Amino acid sequence: MANAVHGVMEFFSTAAQPTVLIFVAVLLLSLWMLSLRNPRVKWPPGPVCFPVVGCLPQMMISGRRRQPTDLLPWYDTYGDIMHVKFGEQHMIMLGTYELIQEAFVKNADTVSARPTWIYFLRQIVGKDGAGVLFKSGKAWKELRRFTLSSLRDLGLGRKSLQERIQDEARYLVQNIENENGKAFSPRERIGKAVSNIISIVVFGTRYDYNDTPEMLPVLEEVLRLGEGPVLLTNLARFIMPMKKMIALVDKLYSLIRQEVEKHRQSFDPTDIRDFIDLFIKVTQEEEDPEVYTEWNVFRIIVDLYLAGTDTTANTLRWSLVHMVNHPDAQKRVQREIDQVIGQGRVAKMEDKARMPFTEATILEVFRLSTVGAGVILKTGHAWKELRRFTLSSLRDLGLGRKSLQERIQDEARYLVQNIEDENGKAFSPRDRIGKAVSNIISIVVFGTRYDYNDTPEMLPVLEEALRLGEGPLSLTNLARFIMPMKKIMSLVDKLYSLIRQEVEKHRQSFDPKDIRDFIDLFIKVTQEEEDPEVYTEWNVFRIIVDLYLAGTDTTANTLRWSLVHMVNHPDAQKRVQQEIDQVIGQGRVAKMEDKARMPFTEATVLEVFRLSTVVPLGVPHATSETTNLAGYTIPKGTVILGDLYRVLHDENNFEDAYKFKPERWLDVDGKVVKSDKLIPFSMGPRICLGKGLAEMESFIFFTTLLQNFTFKVTEGEKPPDGVEGLNTFTFTPYPYNVCAVRR
Ligand code: HEM
Repeated sequence: MANAVHGVMEFFSTAAQPTVLIFVAVLLLSLWMLSLRNPRVKWPPGPVCFPVVGCLPQMMISGRRRQPTDLLPWYDTYGDIMHVKFGEQHMIMLGTYELIQEAFVKNADTVSARPTWIYFLRQIVGKDGAGVLFKSGKAWKELRRFTLSSLRDLGLGRKSLQERIQDEARYLVQNIENENGKAFSPRERIGKAVSNIISIVVFGTRYDYNDTPEMLPVLEEVLRLGEGPVLLTNLARFIMPMKKMIALVDKLYSLIRQEVEKHRQSFDPTDIRDFIDLFIKVTQEEEDPEVYTEWNVFRIIVDLYLAGTDTTANTLRWSLVHMVNHPDAQKRVQREIDQVIGQGRVAKMEDKARMPFTEATILEVFRLSTVGAGVILKTGHAWKELRRFTLSSLRDLGLGRKSLQERIQDEARYLVQNIEDENGKAFSPRDRIGKAVSNIISIVVFGTRYDYNDTPEMLPVLEEALRLGEGPLSLTNLARFIMPMKKIMSLVDKLYSLIRQEVEKHRQSFDPKDIRDFIDLFIKVTQEEEDPEVYTEWNVFRIIVDLYLAGTDTTANTLRWSLVHMVNHPDAQKRVQQEIDQVIGQGRVAKMEDKARMPFTEATVLEVFRLSTVVPLGVPHATSETTNLAGYTIPKGTVILGDLYRVLHDENNFEDAYKFKPERWLDVDGKVVKSDKLIPFSMGPRICLGKGLAEMESFIFFTTLLQNFTFKVTEGEKPPDGVEGLNTFTFTPYPYNVCAVRR
């Protein structure tokens, strides 16, 4: 083997450059042919797949913007079931209703997993997946059941979900009214209205349109960044470099978070153990919720570590340096110690008054070796308040069962013991001094100290963060060029942290007799359920993200498209409005019961679902076992994509498939006839969990908008054509402006 390697090396060092290129080309070609000839797998036909990149080049070379239609000619060449490779990942694309049904319904047992091993998904949800959208197996079933039943329960609460949607539709109308018929972009406020429904479900609250929750722009950015098939390949890691520092700091926060959580679970107001307990208590009592936030407790803890660990440790380190350099001073200090304390006990603060030279020595170390101080990154009123709180809690804790002084005494003893083990040999005091001092903060903050051999994860992370963060460059704007951001990850992290804040607020005011929303339900179930592996906090975070990811952009895009179609088809708009006037009038808001008497309106919404397929390729499935599909044996670990767009634009299923024709859904008597082939929500056990909600939202939002306004574009402006749009995870119209004329 060594000889072979040597031979290859020699070949490369002696061969001329073109020869090397030819050699590499032949090697890659043979690898590719070998991979094609893999006798174990007979893949369905598909486009040429190159080594490493698969058929990404063909997909990405296309000069114009990617449209859901781009892939359709491939089916003409290769057939309805197609094999493609994104990078190294094998995928099967299913282009007909029957094939999708065969995969997602008949073979649901083996085709309902999600490909969470793909780099991008793994980064975001972990390799085991989480939540509903990206979870597989038993836990997925359980979480899906729970999420569905809570949506149902919440819909049956004091104010039904339907009434909430009605309210929101009213708000939306009010907001649009302010434009006084002038041209405006409906994009943003539609997004806000729709996301408010999820906010009501998840957090029990809606947000004013001017007071957007931070979540929304973050979420939108994630969705926009997430475009492109590269994301579905492991190649993603090469084009998305990590910003290590951010990851470390995030880890730090997540560790603190774990501690805070543990504390909350065992919190007892009559037994305050440490700083976090005090903070929990104060959050329940204080009047200033802007100050006593979870974010602030995180920051204080980090600040305590940052400002209180390295500084004190360095003072001690310096004092040893000075003692070594000044053996006479060392001797004088030791004489004082012998006189005042002796060997029988540990020093205490009262001793200081009788040890002037020792005190003077410490003062001199402070002066000579100025170690700088940490800064709590806060200003104004909140800073004062937090400082007061921090100080007084340190004092309170010091007055607890075991005083802070005694803790420091204990720690000093441990340090002595530890150094004793060195038996007088040379050693670096750096590490253990750091540990001893940080233990004081750990006791104050977490109520616990750590054995020196059992370093808490926090410490090395913190140290690394401090090391990476040093140097003037990180304080300049140039940092962005030398510290490449892994933007999606930091956005996703931000999303999690926002959700976390909400979950925390809920825990604080949690009352099992008054379940207000999804989070309350989850908190309740975590306290009752027997399956703690399923009902984890990580899963509640993920479900909330899933509900936002799956339930916001989709429904909002459906509504956005419906306005495009109304502008392009004023006759259809008028027919919908006539129905509204007959059935609802102007005095009240639409409700679901109205739908049965408004066939043209229902048909219009169905046509929007069909023509403007907002999730063109669905959400990727994966095979959890070898599966037989259309006569092909598809191995475990293959991604299966149901091409919903193709089914909904197949001439065999829908005549004039690219035309907007609501009448196609009406029979000769004007009654709605649905088709099995209308699958914008996919099918099988993975079918969209929010289908009912999405249908309700689409109907009520759409009807209420048209009840109050007629939508037009300004003279001379060309609205989007209703077929092409921006195609990322979801399919959305290109930006456009409309006028809403009050009816
Ligand atoms: C017009 C609006 C919507 C469309 C077109 C749509 C479409 C889809 C599609 C195609 C899937 C993938 C199904 C599969 O894997 O085969 C899906 C999954 C999902 N949708 Fe929707 N959706 C919409 C609205 C909503 C809403 C409002 C919610 C909020 C509750 C929601 C929650 C979910 C969830 C949680 C999943 C994952 C289900 C699972 O993996 O078990 N969706 N949706």
